[in-house]
Amino acid sequence: MHTLTTDKQHDESRQGESFAPFAADPNRYDRHFYIESYGCQMNFADSEVVASILQDQGYGATRQPDQADLILLNTCSIREKAEQTVRKRLTEFKQLKREKKGLLIGVLGCMAERLKSKFLEEERLVDIVVGPDAYRTLPQLIEEAGTGQKAVNVLLSREETYADIAPVRLGSNGVSAFVSIMRGCNNMCSFCVVPFTRGRERSRDDRSILAECLDLFQKGYREVTLLGQNVDSYHFTPESGGSAVHFAALLEQVARISPLLRIRFSTSHPKDITDEVLHTMARYPNICRYIHLPVQSGSSRVLQLMNRTYTREWYKAKVDRIREILPDCGISSDIIAGFCTETEADHQDTLDIMQYSRYDFSYMFFYSERPGTLAQRRYADDVPESIKKARLQQIVALQNELSLISNRQDIGKVFEVLIEGDSKRDEQSWMGRNSQNKVLVFPKTVPGLKRGDYVQVKVDQCTQATLLGSLVTE
Ligand code: 5AD
Ligand code: SF4
Repeated sequence: MHTLTTDKQHDESRQGESFAPFAADPNRYDRHFYIESYGCQMNFADSEVVASILQDQGYGATRQPDQADLILLNTCSIREKAEQTVRKRLTEFKQLKREKKGLLIGVLGCMAERLKSKFLEEERLVDIVVGPDAYRTLPQLIEEAGTGQKAVNVLLSREETYADIAPVRLGSNGVSAFVSIMRGCNNMCSFCVVPFTRGRERSRDDRSILAECLDLFQKGYREVTLLGQNVDSYHFTPESGGSAVHFAALLEQVARISPLLRIRFSTSHPKDITDEVLHTMARYPNICRYIHLPVQSGSSRVLQLMNRTYTREWYKAKVDRIREILPDCGISSDIIAGFCTETEADHQDTLDIMQYSRYDFSYMFFYSERPGTLAQRRYADDVPESIKKARLQQIVALQNELSLISNRQDIGKVFEVLIEGDSKRDEQSWMGRNSQNKVLVFPKTVPGLKRGDYVQVKVDQCTQATLLGSLVTE
């Protein structure tokens, strides 16, 4: 189901998730932390870096907040609703804090960065506030907070990539993992708070990325998703000199680890994804045929106000190019309804570009003004909420149609599927994805299969969200 508030980077089923590693031995540590993550995949990846830093300090992960000595919320600021969810969660933890002396509560991530020490005034039961670039200082901050001081570090960095920290995989299925390849964003889309909360763009050393991916493969993982706010502008220049490594070269290096390792990446800014990247994808079947290419709006006038730096024609040409070089590529999008000054004609342009691009799925929102952004400073948030919501509903309805059309076209086709685990609804069925990132569900008719295996699945039926199939055995 596509809901009104879900996007690629904000898989709603995961919002607020808290996990401990599968193999965690509860008796191994005498102190425990509990962490919940909100927002984008990058935040979930950051929580795994934080888990690693805490484990080095002798903290084990727990899934039970009432057993924790330290409760952390890794927060998101992208829309007002994301912030409201976190505030509500904090009030729920207040009771625990009253009951347990010495329990520390920390706020991490984008909301911490946006509100800084104001957070401690607004939410008086919060002890620690740490921005996305300051996680290495958590041990000192915990110590300070333990002595009753308010501990804050929201310094942004031009260099920090946590390259040398081996993330502790939280709640992983043992098959797919996120690998952060860069941090921050230089794009300055006018609606977006990210450049302010995550700072300047910087790329992680390619050797540490490769080492992390190889290690994951050797541990049995079969899919890595390379993460960054704008992966196509990845470029790392080794300190020893030499030429910069760009995204296409990085993709190629990761793809060469093994044909059995699938590579995904997110997110691509349409202005930065190059033919070289598309050709690299075409050369390596294990680089998944799927591109998340957020359009945001189909109106050139609105795109200009959004500071997206492309027009609708330019975007359409990019979609054409993808279809030309990678005919079987899945494409998804992010769409904002009701941005400042948006007219009915602009909205129709958005519906039109969705039809043109034939998105397999989209993540759709109505515009939520964020303090400090360019749009908040320059433009009035002048589309009435009722109109924003009505337009969003039309966008969602159209996407549902497009998803169903796209899925129906797959009936009768056979796909290679990586098994991720049991189907949520039925333990007698497996769930996995094809290269295009579509979810396939199929009965366990062949014994001996397990998560992480590749199988051939023929699609027999579909819903708008899922392909239903059967194993092809010969
Ligand atoms: N209001 C609504 N949606 C937003 N997004 C980013 N900022 C806002 C905002 N202020 C959406 C964009 C982006 C996705 C991650 O969230 O579509 O691609
Ligand atoms: Fe991720 Fe942006 Fe939300 Fe920060 S504000 S968590 S970068 S989506």
